[in-house]
Amino acid sequence: MKVAGTATAETLIGTKLHALETAQAEQAVPVAANDHIQIALIGAGGQGQYDTKTAVTVPGVKLVAVADCYDGRLEHSKELWGADVFTTRDYREILDRKDIDAVIIGTPDHWHKQASIDAMKAGKDVYCEKPMIHLYSDGPAMIETAQATKRILQIGSQRVSSIVYAKAKELLASGAIGQLNMVSAFWDRNSSIGAWNYTVPPDASTETCDWPRFLGTAPKIPFNGEHFFQWRKWKAYGSGVAGDLFVHLFSGTHFITGAKGPTRAMATGGLRFWKDGRDVPDVLLGLFDYPEGFNLSLRVNFVDGGAEGEGFLFAGSEGTMEIAGNSVSVNRVPREKEPGLMIGSFTDAMQKQITAAYRQKYPLVEATEPTRVGLDKYVAPRDYSDSYDHLKNFFASVRSRQPVVEDAVFGYRASGAALLSNLSYERDAIVKWDPEAMKLG
Ligand SMILES: NC(=O)c1ccc[n+]([C@@H]2O[C@H](COP(=O)([O-])OP(=O)(O)OC[C@H]3O[C@@H](n4cnc5c(N)ncnc54)[C@H](O)[C@@H]3O)[C@@H](O)[C@H]2O)c1
Repeated sequence: MKVAGTATAETLIGTKLHALETAQAEQAVPVAANDHIQIALIGAGGQGQYDTKTAVTVPGVKLVAVADCYDGRLEHSKELWGADVFTTRDYREILDRKDIDAVIIGTPDHWHKQASIDAMKAGKDVYCEKPMIHLYSDGPAMIETAQATKRILQIGSQRVSSIVYAKAKELLASGAIGQLNMVSAFWDRNSSIGAWNYTVPPDASTETCDWPRFLGTAPKIPFNGEHFFQWRKWKAYGSGVAGDLFVHLFSGTHFITGAKGPTRAMATGGLRFWKDGRDVPDVLLGLFDYPEGFNLSLRVNFVDGGAEGEGFLFAGSEGTMEIAGNSVSVNRVPREKEPGLMIGSFTDAMQKQITAAYRQKYPLVEATEPTRVGLDKYVAPRDYSDSYDHLKNFFASVRSRQPVVEDAVFGYRASGAALLSNLSYERDAIVKWDPEAMKLG
Protein backbone atom coordinates (compact mmCIF):
# COMPACT_ATOMS: atom_id res chain seq x y z
CA MET A 1 0.00 0.00 0.00
CA LYS A 2 1.24 3.44 -0.80
CA VAL A 3 -0.47 6.39 0.81
CA ALA A 4 0.23 9.21 -1.55
CA GLY A 5 -0.38 12.85 -2.11
CA THR A 6 -3.06 15.24 -1.03
CA ALA A 7 -6.64 14.94 -2.12
CA THR A 8 -7.18 16.72 -5.41
CA ALA A 9 -10.14 18.98 -6.04
CA GLU A 10 -9.85 18.70 -9.79
CA THR A 11 -7.63 17.18 -12.41
CA LEU A 12 -7.30 18.76 -15.83
CA ILE A 13 -6.68 16.41 -18.69
CA GLY A 14 -6.01 17.43 -22.27
CA THR A 15 -3.83 19.78 -24.22
CA LYS A 16 -4.13 23.54 -24.19
CA LEU A 17 -2.98 24.85 -27.56
CA HIS A 18 -1.47 28.31 -27.88
CA ALA A 19 -0.54 29.86 -31.20
CA LEU A 20 2.87 31.52 -31.19
CA GLU A 21 2.92 34.95 -32.73
CA THR A 22 5.34 35.84 -35.44
CA ALA A 23 6.40 39.21 -36.74
CA GLN A 24 7.06 37.75 -40.17
CA ALA A 25 3.74 38.88 -41.54
CA GLU A 26 4.58 42.49 -40.72
CA GLN A 27 4.18 44.84 -43.64
CA ALA A 28 7.41 45.24 -45.50
CA VAL A 29 8.63 48.78 -44.91
CA PRO A 30 9.75 50.17 -48.27
CA VAL A 31 13.53 50.47 -48.44
CA ALA A 32 15.09 53.17 -50.60
CA ALA A 33 17.20 51.82 -53.46
CA ASN A 34 20.30 53.51 -52.03
CA ASP A 35 19.62 51.92 -48.66
CA HIS A 36 19.82 48.34 -49.88
CA ILE A 37 22.24 45.95 -48.22
CA GLN A 38 24.18 44.38 -51.09
CA ILE A 39 25.28 40.85 -50.41
CA ALA A 40 27.38 38.12 -51.97
CA LEU A 41 27.31 34.39 -51.46
CA ILE A 42 30.54 32.43 -50.92
CA GLY A 43 29.88 28.71 -51.27
CA ALA A 44 26.73 28.26 -53.37
CA GLY A 45 25.84 24.66 -52.55
CA GLY A 46 22.67 23.42 -50.91
CA GLN A 47 22.70 25.59 -47.80
CA GLY A 48 24.30 28.65 -49.39
CA GLN A 49 21.55 28.72 -52.01
CA TYR A 50 18.87 28.18 -49.38
CA ASP A 51 20.23 30.96 -47.16
CA THR A 52 20.46 33.33 -50.10
CA LYS A 53 16.97 32.53 -51.39
CA THR A 54 15.76 33.40 -47.89
CA ALA A 55 18.01 36.46 -47.50
CA VAL A 56 16.71 38.17 -50.64
CA THR A 57 13.16 37.94 -49.30
CA VAL A 58 14.18 40.21 -46.40
CA PRO A 59 13.18 43.74 -47.46
CA GLY A 60 16.11 45.83 -48.65
CA VAL A 61 18.54 42.97 -49.37
CA LYS A 62 20.03 42.45 -52.83
CA LEU A 63 22.36 39.73 -54.09
CA VAL A 64 25.05 40.96 -56.44
CA ALA A 65 27.72 38.25 -56.57
CA VAL A 66 28.38 34.55 -56.01
CA ALA A 67 31.62 32.59 -55.58
CA ASP A 68 31.83 28.82 -55.79
CA CYS A 69 34.31 26.12 -56.80
CA TYR A 70 31.90 24.17 -59.05
CA ASP A 71 30.91 25.83 -62.33
CA GLY A 72 27.49 24.16 -62.32
CA ARG A 73 26.59 26.04 -59.14
CA LEU A 74 27.78 29.35 -60.56
CA GLU A 75 25.61 28.73 -63.63
CA HIS A 76 22.65 27.78 -61.44
CA SER A 77 23.16 30.97 -59.43
CA LYS A 78 22.56 32.95 -62.62
CA GLU A 79 19.49 30.78 -63.33
CA LEU A 80 18.21 31.59 -59.84
CA TRP A 81 19.10 35.26 -59.45
CA GLY A 82 19.67 36.62 -62.95
CA ALA A 83 22.41 36.83 -65.55
CA ASP A 84 23.73 40.09 -64.13
CA VAL A 85 24.82 38.43 -60.89
CA PHE A 86 28.63 38.45 -60.90
CA THR A 87 30.11 34.95 -60.50
CA THR A 88 33.64 33.74 -59.83
CA ARG A 89 35.56 30.76 -58.55
CA ASP A 90 37.76 33.05 -56.45
CA TYR A 91 35.97 34.73 -53.56
CA ARG A 92 38.71 37.35 -53.28
CA GLU A 93 37.27 38.96 -56.42
CA ILE A 94 34.07 39.45 -54.44
CA LEU A 95 35.82 40.80 -51.38
CA ASP A 96 37.63 43.39 -53.53
CA ARG A 97 34.31 44.89 -54.62
CA LYS A 98 33.28 48.04 -52.77
CA ASP A 99 29.56 47.57 -53.58
CA ILE A 100 29.22 44.52 -51.31
CA ASP A 101 28.27 45.12 -47.67
CA ALA A 102 27.93 41.58 -46.37
CA VAL A 103 28.60 37.96 -47.34
CA ILE A 104 26.91 34.69 -46.61
CA ILE A 105 29.45 31.88 -46.21
CA GLY A 106 28.12 28.44 -47.14
CA THR A 107 31.39 26.63 -47.79
CA PRO A 108 32.35 23.33 -46.19
CA ASP A 109 33.50 23.70 -42.57
CA HIS A 110 37.24 23.76 -43.31
CA TRP A 111 36.83 27.09 -45.15
CA HIS A 112 34.66 28.88 -42.54
CA LYS A 113 37.53 30.50 -40.66
CA GLN A 114 39.54 31.69 -43.64
CA ALA A 115 36.60 32.96 -45.68
CA SER A 116 35.15 34.77 -42.63
CA ILE A 117 38.45 36.39 -41.68
CA ASP A 118 39.21 37.43 -45.26
CA ALA A 119 35.72 38.91 -45.59
CA MET A 120 35.85 40.82 -42.30
CA LYS A 121 39.31 42.16 -43.12
CA ALA A 122 37.88 43.36 -46.45
CA GLY A 123 35.25 45.30 -44.47
CA LYS A 124 32.30 42.94 -45.01
CA ASP A 125 29.82 41.79 -42.38
CA VAL A 126 29.55 38.01 -42.31
CA TYR A 127 26.80 35.44 -41.93
CA CYS A 128 28.80 32.22 -41.59
CA GLU A 129 27.15 28.84 -41.57
CA LYS A 130 27.51 26.52 -38.60
CA PRO A 131 29.66 24.95 -37.26
CA MET A 132 31.69 28.10 -36.75
CA ILE A 133 34.92 26.16 -36.30
CA HIS A 134 36.57 23.17 -37.90
CA LEU A 135 39.68 23.32 -35.67
CA TYR A 136 39.84 24.76 -32.15
CA SER A 137 42.34 27.38 -33.29
CA ASP A 138 39.66 28.79 -35.65
CA GLY A 139 37.61 30.12 -32.70
CA PRO A 140 39.97 32.71 -31.17
CA ALA A 141 41.11 33.80 -34.66
CA MET A 142 37.53 34.53 -35.76
CA ILE A 143 36.56 36.23 -32.48
CA GLU A 144 39.65 38.45 -32.55
CA THR A 145 39.09 39.44 -36.17
CA ALA A 146 35.43 40.32 -35.53
CA GLN A 147 36.49 42.50 -32.60
CA ALA A 148 39.43 44.12 -34.38
CA THR A 149 37.52 44.90 -37.59
CA LYS A 150 34.25 45.79 -35.77
CA ARG A 151 32.35 43.68 -38.28
CA ILE A 152 29.11 41.84 -37.51
CA LEU A 153 29.75 38.10 -37.53
CA GLN A 154 26.67 35.94 -37.11
CA ILE A 155 26.77 32.15 -37.13
CA GLY A 156 24.03 30.26 -38.94
CA SER A 157 22.32 28.06 -36.34
CA GLN A 158 18.98 29.54 -37.28
CA ARG A 159 16.97 28.02 -34.45
CA VAL A 160 18.54 30.57 -32.10
CA SER A 161 16.23 33.12 -33.76
CA SER A 162 13.18 30.85 -33.65
CA ILE A 163 10.01 31.98 -31.89
CA VAL A 164 9.69 28.40 -30.63
CA TYR A 165 13.07 28.58 -28.89
CA ALA A 166 12.28 32.06 -27.58
CA LYS A 167 9.12 30.63 -25.99
CA ALA A 168 11.08 27.71 -24.55
CA LYS A 169 13.59 30.14 -23.04
CA GLU A 170 10.80 32.22 -21.53
CA LEU A 171 9.01 29.15 -20.13
CA LEU A 172 12.18 27.79 -18.54
CA ALA A 173 13.07 31.18 -17.00
CA SER A 174 9.54 31.51 -15.60
CA GLY A 175 10.01 28.28 -13.66
CA ALA A 176 7.52 26.30 -15.75
CA ILE A 177 9.36 23.03 -15.08
CA GLY A 178 11.07 23.99 -11.82
CA GLN A 179 14.76 23.33 -11.45
CA LEU A 180 16.35 22.03 -14.65
CA ASN A 181 18.41 18.91 -14.10
CA MET A 182 18.74 17.27 -17.48
CA VAL A 183 18.46 18.04 -21.18
CA SER A 184 18.20 15.19 -23.68
CA ALA A 185 18.31 15.91 -27.38
CA PHE A 186 18.58 13.81 -30.49
CA TRP A 187 18.81 14.04 -34.25
CA ASP A 188 18.09 10.76 -35.97
CA ARG A 189 18.08 9.94 -39.65
CA ASN A 190 17.27 6.85 -41.61
CA SER A 191 18.01 7.54 -45.25
CA SER A 192 20.92 7.64 -47.65
CA ILE A 193 20.62 11.41 -48.22
CA GLY A 194 20.28 11.87 -44.46
CA ALA A 195 23.63 10.07 -44.17
CA TRP A 196 25.22 12.65 -46.51
CA ASN A 197 25.32 10.54 -49.71
CA TYR A 198 24.67 13.61 -51.82
CA THR A 199 24.55 13.35 -55.62
CA VAL A 200 27.83 13.75 -57.49
CA PRO A 201 26.98 15.36 -60.86
CA PRO A 202 28.26 13.42 -63.89
CA ASP A 203 30.28 16.41 -65.12
CA ALA A 204 32.33 16.56 -61.91
CA SER A 205 35.99 16.85 -62.96
CA THR A 206 39.00 19.08 -62.62
CA GLU A 207 37.56 21.06 -65.55
CA THR A 208 34.33 21.97 -63.76
CA CYS A 209 35.55 21.88 -60.16
CA ASP A 210 38.32 24.09 -58.78
CA TRP A 211 39.83 21.22 -56.80
CA PRO A 212 42.89 23.02 -55.35
CA ARG A 213 40.66 25.88 -54.16
CA PHE A 214 38.17 23.44 -52.64
CA LEU A 215 41.01 21.64 -50.80
CA GLY A 216 42.44 24.82 -49.32
CA THR A 217 44.37 23.71 -46.24
CA ALA A 218 43.13 20.10 -46.46
CA PRO A 219 45.63 17.37 -47.42
CA LYS A 220 46.51 17.49 -51.14
CA ILE A 221 45.02 14.43 -52.82
CA PRO A 222 44.02 13.79 -56.45
CA PHE A 223 40.55 14.97 -57.53
CA ASN A 224 37.76 12.98 -55.91
CA GLY A 225 34.14 13.83 -56.73
CA GLU A 226 32.84 12.20 -53.57
CA HIS A 227 35.17 14.25 -51.41
CA PHE A 228 34.04 17.38 -53.26
CA PHE A 229 30.28 16.79 -53.11
CA GLN A 230 30.02 14.57 -50.02
CA TRP A 231 32.70 16.31 -47.97
CA ARG A 232 30.88 15.81 -44.63
CA LYS A 233 32.04 12.17 -44.71
CA TRP A 234 35.71 13.13 -44.19
CA LYS A 235 37.13 15.04 -41.28
CA ALA A 236 39.59 16.87 -43.53
CA TYR A 237 36.64 19.08 -44.59
CA GLY A 238 33.73 18.39 -42.22
CA SER A 239 33.37 17.90 -38.48
CA GLY A 240 31.40 14.65 -38.31
CA VAL A 241 27.88 14.39 -36.95
CA ALA A 242 29.00 16.51 -33.97
CA GLY A 243 29.85 19.52 -36.13
CA ASP A 244 26.94 18.93 -38.47
CA LEU A 245 24.15 18.24 -35.99
CA PHE A 246 25.23 18.28 -32.32
CA VAL A 247 26.13 21.91 -32.87
CA HIS A 248 22.47 22.80 -33.52
CA LEU A 249 21.55 21.03 -30.29
CA PHE A 250 24.25 22.92 -28.37
CA SER A 251 23.14 26.24 -29.84
CA GLY A 252 19.58 25.46 -28.77
CA THR A 253 20.60 24.32 -25.29
CA HIS A 254 22.80 27.38 -24.73
CA PHE A 255 20.21 29.80 -26.04
CA ILE A 256 17.34 28.34 -24.03
CA THR A 257 19.20 27.80 -20.74
CA GLY A 258 21.62 30.73 -20.96
CA ALA A 259 24.48 28.31 -20.23
CA LYS A 260 27.87 28.95 -21.79
CA GLY A 261 28.97 25.38 -22.24
CA PRO A 262 29.91 22.09 -20.61
CA THR A 263 32.95 21.48 -18.43
CA ARG A 264 33.26 17.74 -19.15
CA ALA A 265 32.38 15.68 -22.19
CA MET A 266 32.38 11.99 -22.98
CA ALA A 267 31.28 10.43 -26.22
CA THR A 268 30.95 7.00 -27.71
CA GLY A 269 29.57 5.56 -30.92
CA GLY A 270 30.89 3.99 -34.07
CA LEU A 271 30.67 3.56 -37.79
CA ARG A 272 27.86 1.01 -37.81
CA PHE A 273 26.26 1.04 -41.23
CA TRP A 274 27.64 3.50 -43.81
CA LYS A 275 30.99 1.75 -44.32
CA ASP A 276 31.54 3.56 -47.62
CA GLY A 277 34.99 4.99 -47.01
CA ARG A 278 33.96 7.76 -44.61
CA ASP A 279 36.22 8.34 -41.63
CA VAL A 280 33.63 9.58 -39.10
CA PRO A 281 31.04 7.65 -37.06
CA ASP A 282 27.39 7.39 -38.10
CA VAL A 283 26.21 6.80 -34.53
CA LEU A 284 27.38 9.17 -31.81
CA LEU A 285 26.26 9.58 -28.20
CA GLY A 286 27.56 12.33 -25.98
CA LEU A 287 27.22 13.20 -22.29
CA PHE A 288 28.08 16.67 -21.00
CA ASP A 289 28.26 18.24 -17.51
CA TYR A 290 27.13 21.85 -17.19
CA PRO A 291 28.29 24.00 -14.26
CA GLU A 292 24.75 25.40 -14.04
CA GLY A 293 23.81 22.04 -12.52
CA PHE A 294 22.33 20.01 -15.35
CA ASN A 295 23.52 17.27 -17.66
CA LEU A 296 23.10 17.18 -21.40
CA SER A 297 22.74 13.94 -23.29
CA LEU A 298 22.93 13.97 -27.09
CA ARG A 299 22.39 11.36 -29.76
CA VAL A 300 22.76 11.19 -33.50
CA ASN A 301 21.88 7.90 -35.19
CA PHE A 302 22.06 7.68 -38.98
CA VAL A 303 20.54 4.19 -39.05
CA ASP A 304 17.72 4.32 -36.55
CA GLY A 305 15.39 2.09 -38.54
CA GLY A 306 12.51 4.45 -37.95
CA ALA A 307 11.32 7.94 -38.53
CA GLU A 308 13.77 10.78 -39.03
CA GLY A 309 13.53 13.58 -36.52
CA GLU A 310 15.07 15.88 -33.97
CA GLY A 311 13.95 17.04 -30.58
CA PHE A 312 14.70 18.20 -27.07
CA LEU A 313 13.40 17.15 -23.68
CA PHE A 314 14.16 19.44 -20.73
CA ALA A 315 13.56 17.63 -17.43
CA GLY A 316 12.95 19.73 -14.36
CA SER A 317 11.88 19.18 -10.76
CA GLU A 318 8.27 20.16 -11.59
CA GLY A 319 7.74 18.88 -15.09
CA THR A 320 9.17 18.51 -18.55
CA MET A 321 9.41 20.73 -21.59
CA GLU A 322 9.62 19.23 -25.05
CA ILE A 323 10.56 20.83 -28.36
CA ALA A 324 9.31 18.88 -31.34
CA GLY A 325 9.05 20.30 -34.83
CA ASN A 326 7.59 23.80 -34.67
CA SER A 327 6.19 23.46 -31.17
CA VAL A 328 7.20 23.55 -27.54
CA SER A 329 5.08 21.92 -24.88
CA VAL A 330 5.21 21.88 -21.12
CA ASN A 331 3.95 19.02 -19.05
CA ARG A 332 3.81 20.43 -15.56
CA VAL A 333 3.72 18.01 -12.67
CA PRO A 334 4.03 19.94 -9.40
CA ARG A 335 6.12 18.13 -6.82
CA GLU A 336 4.23 16.17 -4.19
CA LYS A 337 3.51 18.10 -1.01
CA GLU A 338 4.18 15.14 1.30
CA PRO A 339 6.67 12.27 0.98
CA GLY A 340 4.22 9.32 0.94
CA LEU A 341 4.43 5.99 2.73
CA MET A 342 5.63 2.56 1.62
CA ILE A 343 4.26 0.38 4.40
CA GLY A 344 2.24 -2.49 2.85
CA SER A 345 4.77 -5.17 3.83
CA PHE A 346 4.59 -4.31 7.55
CA THR A 347 2.16 -5.78 10.07
CA ASP A 348 -1.34 -4.34 10.22
CA ALA A 349 -0.59 -2.87 13.62
CA MET A 350 2.58 -1.24 12.36
CA GLN A 351 0.80 0.15 9.30
CA LYS A 352 -1.85 1.73 11.54
CA GLN A 353 0.75 3.16 13.87
CA ILE A 354 2.79 4.69 11.04
CA THR A 355 -0.28 6.01 9.24
CA ALA A 356 -1.58 7.69 12.39
CA ALA A 357 1.76 9.39 13.02
CA TYR A 358 1.99 10.35 9.36
CA ARG A 359 -1.42 11.93 9.25
CA GLN A 360 -0.61 13.91 12.36
CA LYS A 361 2.39 15.31 10.59
CA TYR A 362 0.66 15.66 7.20
CA PRO A 363 -3.08 16.22 7.79
CA LEU A 364 -5.36 15.47 4.87
CA VAL A 365 -6.16 18.77 3.15
CA GLU A 366 -8.56 19.67 0.40
CA ALA A 367 -6.43 20.82 -2.51
CA THR A 368 -7.15 24.41 -3.42
CA GLU A 369 -5.39 24.27 -6.77
CA PRO A 370 -6.01 21.71 -9.48
CA THR A 371 -3.22 19.33 -10.35
CA ARG A 372 -2.30 19.97 -13.96
CA VAL A 373 -1.62 16.81 -15.92
CA GLY A 374 -2.53 18.31 -19.28
CA LEU A 375 -0.07 19.79 -21.76
CA ASP A 376 0.44 23.44 -22.55
CA LYS A 377 1.52 23.42 -26.17
CA TYR A 378 2.80 26.45 -28.09
CA VAL A 379 2.80 26.06 -31.86
CA ALA A 380 4.40 28.27 -34.51
CA PRO A 381 2.39 28.97 -37.66
CA ARG A 382 2.75 26.22 -40.27
CA ASP A 383 4.74 28.42 -42.66
CA TYR A 384 6.98 29.90 -39.95
CA SER A 385 10.66 30.13 -40.94
CA ASP A 386 13.37 30.51 -38.31
CA SER A 387 15.89 30.87 -41.17
CA TYR A 388 14.06 34.00 -42.27
CA ASP A 389 14.11 35.40 -38.75
CA HIS A 390 17.80 34.54 -38.33
CA LEU A 391 18.73 36.33 -41.54
CA LYS A 392 16.38 39.21 -40.72
CA ASN A 393 18.13 39.60 -37.36
CA PHE A 394 21.51 39.57 -39.11
CA PHE A 395 20.53 42.30 -41.56
CA ALA A 396 18.99 44.34 -38.73
CA SER A 397 22.40 44.26 -37.02
CA VAL A 398 24.17 45.13 -40.24
CA ARG A 399 22.06 48.29 -40.27
CA SER A 400 22.04 49.11 -36.54
CA ARG A 401 25.58 47.84 -35.67
CA GLN A 402 24.01 46.34 -32.54
CA PRO A 403 25.37 42.91 -31.53
CA VAL A 404 23.73 39.70 -32.75
CA VAL A 405 22.68 36.89 -30.43
CA GLU A 406 24.68 34.23 -32.21
CA ASP A 407 27.96 36.15 -32.42
CA ALA A 408 31.41 34.64 -32.69
CA VAL A 409 31.63 33.95 -28.94
CA PHE A 410 28.27 32.19 -28.91
CA GLY A 411 29.25 30.33 -32.09
CA TYR A 412 32.56 29.21 -30.66
CA ARG A 413 30.95 28.07 -27.40
CA ALA A 414 28.45 25.94 -29.34
CA SER A 415 30.84 24.51 -31.93
CA GLY A 416 33.68 24.15 -29.42
CA ALA A 417 31.34 22.15 -27.18
CA ALA A 418 30.17 20.02 -30.10
CA LEU A 419 33.68 19.12 -31.19
CA LEU A 420 34.51 17.90 -27.66
CA SER A 421 32.53 14.82 -28.70
CA ASN A 422 34.92 14.10 -31.55
CA LEU A 423 37.92 14.55 -29.25
CA SER A 424 36.44 12.25 -26.61
CA TYR A 425 35.52 9.64 -29.22
CA GLU A 426 38.95 9.73 -30.84
CA ARG A 427 40.92 9.80 -27.57
CA ASP A 428 38.65 7.28 -25.85
CA ALA A 429 38.69 9.60 -22.85
CA ILE A 430 36.75 12.25 -20.93
CA VAL A 431 37.60 15.70 -22.29
CA LYS A 432 37.55 18.89 -20.25
CA TRP A 433 36.61 22.35 -21.44
CA ASP A 434 36.49 25.77 -19.81
CA PRO A 435 33.32 27.32 -21.26
CA GLU A 436 34.06 30.76 -19.82
CA ALA A 437 37.58 31.04 -21.24
CA MET A 438 36.71 28.75 -24.18
CA LYS A 439 39.79 26.60 -23.69
CA LEU A 440 40.39 22.86 -23.69
CA GLY A 441 41.38 21.46 -20.29
N1 LIG B 1 22.10 25.95 -40.81
C1 LIG B 1 21.73 24.78 -41.31
O1 LIG B 1 20.67 24.23 -40.98
C2 LIG B 1 22.62 24.11 -42.29
C3 LIG B 1 22.10 23.12 -43.14
C4 LIG B 1 22.96 22.55 -44.08
C5 LIG B 1 24.28 22.94 -44.14
N2 LIG B 1 24.77 23.87 -43.29
C6 LIG B 1 26.19 24.28 -43.33
O2 LIG B 1 26.41 24.96 -44.55
C7 LIG B 1 27.71 24.69 -45.04
C8 LIG B 1 27.59 24.18 -46.48
O3 LIG B 1 26.88 22.96 -46.50
P1 LIG B 1 26.19 22.46 -47.84
O4 LIG B 1 25.37 21.29 -47.51
O5 LIG B 1 25.55 23.59 -48.51
O6 LIG B 1 27.48 21.98 -48.68
P2 LIG B 1 27.59 21.90 -50.26
O7 LIG B 1 28.67 20.93 -50.57
O8 LIG B 1 26.26 21.69 -50.88
O9 LIG B 1 28.08 23.36 -50.67
C9 LIG B 1 29.35 23.85 -50.35
C10 LIG B 1 29.82 24.68 -51.54
O10 LIG B 1 30.99 25.39 -51.15
C11 LIG B 1 31.81 25.48 -52.30
N3 LIG B 1 33.17 25.79 -51.89
C12 LIG B 1 34.09 24.98 -51.35
N4 LIG B 1 35.22 25.66 -51.11
C13 LIG B 1 35.01 26.94 -51.54
C14 LIG B 1 35.81 28.10 -51.58
N5 LIG B 1 37.07 28.11 -51.15
N6 LIG B 1 35.25 29.23 -52.09
C15 LIG B 1 33.98 29.24 -52.57
N7 LIG B 1 33.19 28.15 -52.54
C16 LIG B 1 33.69 27.01 -52.02
C17 LIG B 1 31.65 24.15 -52.97
O11 LIG B 1 32.00 24.22 -54.33
C18 LIG B 1 30.18 23.84 -52.75
O12 LIG B 1 29.39 24.23 -53.86
C19 LIG B 1 28.32 23.68 -44.09
O13 LIG B 1 29.21 24.30 -43.20
C20 LIG B 1 27.14 23.11 -43.35
O14 LIG B 1 27.44 22.69 -42.04
C21 LIG B 1 23.95 24.48 -42.38
